[in-house]
Amino acid sequence: MTPAQTQTRKVMLSAVQPSNHLTIGNYLGAIKNWVKLQHDYECLFFAVDLHTITVRQDPKEMRDQTYRAIATYIAAGLDPKDVTLFVQSHVPAHAELAWVLNCFTYIGELSRMTQFKDKSAAKGGGEGQNISAGLFTYPVLMASDILLYQTDLVPVGEDQKQHLELTRDVAIRMNNIYGKDTFKVPEPYIAQVAARIASLQNPDQKMSKSDPDPNASIFLTDSDDVIRKKLKRAITDSGSEITYDAEAKPGVSNLLTIQSAITGKSMSELVNSYAGKQYGHLKVETGEIVVEAIAPIRNKTELLLKDLGYLNSILKDGAEKARARAHTTLKRVYERVGFIGLDQL
Ligand code: TRP
Repeated sequence: MTPAQTQTRKVMLSAVQPSNHLTIGNYLGAIKNWVKLQHDYECLFFAVDLHTITVRQDPKEMRDQTYRAIATYIAAGLDPKDVTLFVQSHVPAHAELAWVLNCFTYIGELSRMTQFKDKSAAKGGGEGQNISAGLFTYPVLMASDILLYQTDLVPVGEDQKQHLELTRDVAIRMNNIYGKDTFKVPEPYIAQVAARIASLQNPDQKMSKSDPDPNASIFLTDSDDVIRKKLKRAITDSGSEITYDAEAKPGVSNLLTIQSAITGKSMSELVNSYAGKQYGHLKVETGEIVVEAIAPIRNKTELLLKDLGYLNSILKDGAEKARARAHTTLKRVYERVGFIGLDQL
């Protein structure tokens, strides 16, 4: 990379909650794309453990998942020498800036967040249902994640758009009070080839790593046989012809989307290759294609997880780089809101 490239690269940032295993939806819809873009942007990717405790977690499980998320990123092809990989709680500025942002975000705004409404409704909603204040202010912590690094672009799925919109609103609000250069106002990054992978059991819904039905998602930890079985059990549609029609044939279209995202083949090429064939062929062949794509990532992840020394060195390095960047923004914000800087005394 030339020095010029380093200086002009825009900042791209994304994060994942270390709860549950990642799915092929996360891989094909996000990580695979980041791998392609990692040298075009200044990238920061991290595991958001502070966000994850907004709902109760098993501590050991969460620690394991945090390592696993980072190992999976590397196994999938992210280069830790260029990309900053880290754990959110290793950079205290995330929590510190979040407090300040909390004081510039309105209860009304947070009450309108559909993810909060859905998650609290899922818990029964209303008072006395043990919905944590953290779940309510979750989007503020996410805004902190983004604004700390003067981020240009955030690749977001549909479900996180509203949170990014809130991040922009709060950034603009504070910029109007404290100066336009307080925060870079981030833009959503819409990938040209974003694959939206649906649930295998309910193809009208997005594949989710927290889906209670294990057959609905293919996890990056699934063995070859489990992958094949899950695809054989995938819900397909009425009729028998293999065509791409997301409305009328969501199940079949989802399998075609998975294939296309992995192989890079166009939809029409794929559909032509299935002329006269049956749903069963499509399921079996999709299974093989997924196995071929996922097995090397799974195996590499397991190898990396056995080498904690290496992973720790990546995390230490990432935390150090992230801390240095985050500090600049936090210091500026603290000064502008009127805190006495300890280093000024
Ligand atoms: N809320 C995001 C999710 O659940 C995770 C997240 C936390 C995030 N902080 C972020 C995503 C900053 C992008 C940027 O998917």
